[in-house]
Amino acid sequence: MTTATARAFPNIALVKYWGKRDEELILPVAGSLSLTLDAFPTTTTVTLTPDAQADSFSLGGDVATGETALRVTRFLDHVRALAGADVPAQVVSTNEAPTGAGLASSAAGFAALATAASDAYGLGLEANALSRLARRGSGSAARSIVPGVAIWHAGHDDSTSFAEPVDAPDMRMVIVTVDTAQKAVSSREAMRRTAATSPFYPAWITSTEQSLADMVDACAAGDFTRIGEITESHALRMHAVIQACEPPIRYLAPASVAVFDAVASLREQGIEGYATADAGPNVAVIVRPEHGEALREELSAFGSARLVGPGPGAAPFTAADSEAPA
Ligand code: DP6
Repeated sequence: MTTATARAFPNIALVKYWGKRDEELILPVAGSLSLTLDAFPTTTTVTLTPDAQADSFSLGGDVATGETALRVTRFLDHVRALAGADVPAQVVSTNEAPTGAGLASSAAGFAALATAASDAYGLGLEANALSRLARRGSGSAARSIVPGVAIWHAGHDDSTSFAEPVDAPDMRMVIVTVDTAQKAVSSREAMRRTAATSPFYPAWITSTEQSLADMVDACAAGDFTRIGEITESHALRMHAVIQACEPPIRYLAPASVAVFDAVASLREQGIEGYATADAGPNVAVIVRPEHGEALREELSAFGSARLVGPGPGAAPFTAADSEAPA
């Protein structure tokens, strides 16, 4: 096949990935665990263009240049090396999440690109191999290949670092968008700075391993309360290790902190939610399915609040899919 389209969804980590052991292979310092969502998809078409001189990439109708385009070309170089091909490709991508605002658009982006490019270049990869391929574009993309709750094993080399599904109780998430502006420091850059300058970094690595082990146990036990407690404390630890960088980086805005506080007081009132936030000011709150709508309504006081659920993993996308009701 010389053209292929795929769609993937962002994921929100409950145990976060923050820091690389290997920059080239994108091996993380610790494993992580996330929920792939059923909203904000990225749809990407890869078409092989034998007559073109170079790759081209457009996102949301705008031709990308500079670092963004380079990242796509580097990724395609890796796909071409696997496929034994040297044909350039045209990549056309549309993204329904606000790019760069901490809603993991790079996760959905590289999961969709990995799936479409793997098809277009005829690699025919199975799920674990596809997750490893997506990881090479953006670490968190390894998890967006997987539907629902995914664990990304840190692994010790390229072949052992991939994401796979985990059984977990059914849950929903409320995404509270308090700000859609592009983040000031990219995750990639901020991870480097954290590793190089944050005095808490060694403790972050060991405590993340512990959080992940506890989270795996909580998922296996179907213990939503424990899952939530680990999620919230782990998120605050990530923001603490980042804020301790030099120069410091602070992703949480006053409005984000207000959402964390509101979630804590709603818990007292019997709406059981637990907050987390990625490298940006927006807050994601996991909640029991039966409390989802009540929580969404309460949190809409802080910004646009959307109730989402577990979504499918990355998959090929055909014209028939786009005609199906959403
Ligand atoms: C805070 O996957 O975007 O969302 O591997 O450098 O592309 P790169 O980083 P990226 O970082 C995601 C960081 C996070 C936490 C998480 O998703 O686990």
